[in-house]
Amino acid sequence: MTADTNAVDRYGVMGYPVAHSRSPVIHRLFAHQTGQNMQYELLQVQPDKLEQAVRQFQRTAGRGLNVTAPHKSSICQLADQLSERASTAGSVNTLVFQDGDIFGDNTDGIGLLRDLVVNRSLNLEGVSVLILGAGGATRGIVGPLLEMEPERLVIANRTVRKAEIISDHFARSGPVSACGFDTIPDGHWDLIINATSAGLKGETPPYPDTALSDDTFCYDLSYGLKRTPFCQWAREQGATRVASGWGMLVEQAAESFHIWRGVRPDTRPVLKQIAVSA
Ligand code: ATR
Repeated sequence: MTADTNAVDRYGVMGYPVAHSRSPVIHRLFAHQTGQNMQYELLQVQPDKLEQAVRQFQRTAGRGLNVTAPHKSSICQLADQLSERASTAGSVNTLVFQDGDIFGDNTDGIGLLRDLVVNRSLNLEGVSVLILGAGGATRGIVGPLLEMEPERLVIANRTVRKAEIISDHFARSGPVSACGFDTIPDGHWDLIINATSAGLKGETPPYPDTALSDDTFCYDLSYGLKRTPFCQWAREQGATRVASGWGMLVEQAAESFHIWRGVRPDTRPVLKQIAVSA
C-alpha cells in the first residue's frame, strides 16, 4: 500500500489492552486548542503483531505514535534511533516517523517532573524519594528524578532483584538504592511514588505504612475515574498531600505533541477538563 499524500497526519496510541486510554481525548483537545490538523486513534495491538502494526501505520500517513503497556520496552528494538532518555530508560512511549526512519523517545519522566515541579511547585532538590515498583514505569522516571538531585532515591519492589537491576543501572547518576517492601530503610520520606501496576489489576500490595508521615507527598502514576487504591491507602494513613497520575499523563502527552507538531499546548485547561481529584 502506498501513502496517500493528501491524508491528514495520523497519530495514535498502541497498547494491549488500550480501551481505557485517555490519550485520544487529550490529543484531540491539544489539536483543537493549537489549531493543528491531525487525527489521533486508539490502536489495540497484541504483542506479537506490534512490528507489523507499526510498519503498517507508518506506511499509511502515520506521523507518530504513543506506545503504552505492554509494548514500552519491546518497541525499542524497532526504532532506528533512540533519544538519550529513552535509551537510558530502556523504554519508549513516543515514536516519530520521519523520512522512513523511526525515532523513539520517552516523555514519561519529563511529564512527571513537569507535574511535580511546575504544576505542584515541589522542590525535589535534597528530598528523599521512595518509588514502589520496578517495572517499565520506574525505568522511565528514575533518571529524570535523579537529575533533580534528591538526597536519596530508594526503589522498593516485590521482586527485589528487579529493583536492584534498575538501581545498578542508574548508580552513576545519583544516590539510588534498592530494597523489598519489608526492608525499606527507616527515615522520613518526602515523596512516595507508586509505580506498581497493582492497582490496575485490582490488587493491593503491602504498601509500607511506616514510610508515611503526614507531610509525605504521595503520588500514584496510575489514574482512574475513581480514587486509585494507592491514593485511597495514603488518605487512610492520614496523608494530606495525595495525587494520582492525571497530571503526568497530560504533561507527557504535551511533550509528545510538542515533539510531533513543534507546538506546546497549554496543559492547564485540558487537565481541568479531564482529571479527577485524588
Ligand atoms: P509497568 O510498565 O506499568 O511498570 P511492569 O513492567 O509489568 O509494568 O511492572 C509492574 C510493576 O508492578 C512491577 O514492579 C511489579 O512487581 P514485580 O516486579 O515483583 O512483578 C509491580 N506489581 C504488580 N502487581 C503487584 C502486586 N500485586 N504487588 C506488588 N507489586 C506489584
